[in-house]
Amino acid sequence: MKSIISLERHFLDQQRRYPEARGDFTKLFSELSFAAKIVSREVNRAGLADIIGRAGRTNIQGEDVQKLDILANNIFTQSLTHLGLLCALSSEEDPNIIRVPDEYPTGNYVLNMDPLDGSSNIDVNVSIGTIFSILRKVSYAPRGDEIDCIQPGYKQVAAGYVLYGSSTMLVYTSGQGVFGFTLEPSIGEFLLSHSQIRIPKTGKYYSINEGYQNKWPESIRNYIQHIKLSKNKGGRGMSHRYIGSLVADFHRNLLKGGIFLYPADSKAPEGKLRYLYEAAPLAFIVEQAGGKATDGKTDIMKISPKRLHQRIPLFLGSAEEVDILMDFMNNKDIKSREQQQ
Ligand code: AHG
Ligand code: MN
Ligand code: MN
Repeated sequence: MKSIISLERHFLDQQRRYPEARGDFTKLFSELSFAAKIVSREVNRAGLADIIGRAGRTNIQGEDVQKLDILANNIFTQSLTHLGLLCALSSEEDPNIIRVPDEYPTGNYVLNMDPLDGSSNIDVNVSIGTIFSILRKVSYAPRGDEIDCIQPGYKQVAAGYVLYGSSTMLVYTSGQGVFGFTLEPSIGEFLLSHSQIRIPKTGKYYSINEGYQNKWPESIRNYIQHIKLSKNKGGRGMSHRYIGSLVADFHRNLLKGGIFLYPADSKAPEGKLRYLYEAAPLAFIVEQAGGKATDGKTDIMKISPKRLHQRIPLFLGSAEEVDILMDFMNNKDIKSREQQQ
């Protein structure tokens, strides 16, 4: 029988491989998975329990906050602040950093999170997710400071997401490859289901909100036209898959190959997605899986954010698909590339 590896067992094995590890990640990920199990249960009950529908207020992004957003935010915040491993957190749902209550000790890490990604899909039973990014504390403030959260992507020590889909999965990287765990509800454990995930170099899916086509920069319009007509996918061009939950669209492209695009446009001059808790963690994961992530000019991982909720254009996925997009964005001659294929 194939050995069944729980999340905890995986981290203990990793700890043995890296003697300098002090078990912080084992504790942190055990708490993250605990919170994810509770949110997963609430997501699966959403149709039954009274948590569907708008909570009547808007968050710092000016978006309607649905009750599950608040619940997920509270569950992850309460689970993580008492651990003694974090000095602060930041969340899409909170304008400022979240402090660790005085009665709890602080630690040497911070965590940035999007507690509920894909909120517009909450009450239509479409996959949604949670995204998190873990960094080392850099300030001398004993109980953390905003600058601990606002760091470039390459400073991340770990990143991951939970996908509340047909099954609940937790996918993470700590720089030694990408691992996926699937929740086995009958025993309430996340079990290793995907070890060392590699994104295919090319893919047949492209994910972009085609409804904004008239607002795209011309280079994006030309690129999308190209991949639809491209003969290099067995003559059919790429297939469009976009469900409006970044985690779900990203996860499909990670496993099957493809590219996700959320460009800046006349409606959102900085793009829509947030650097710290959407772009940076997924960029870390896709690079660790052999893919690429860019804002159209610079690798996402190399960008130094200035604000907690800073937005950024995001293009990420299979390395060769991102390269072709970059050729369009840099107005390079595509014909010569196609002749090389
Ligand atoms: P969130 O629910 O955390 O605000 O994230 C929603 C994001 C992302 O999940 C998705 O890819 C994107 O919004 C969809 O935006 P559009 O509806 O503008 O396409
Ligand atoms: Mn989101
Ligand atoms: Mn969100």
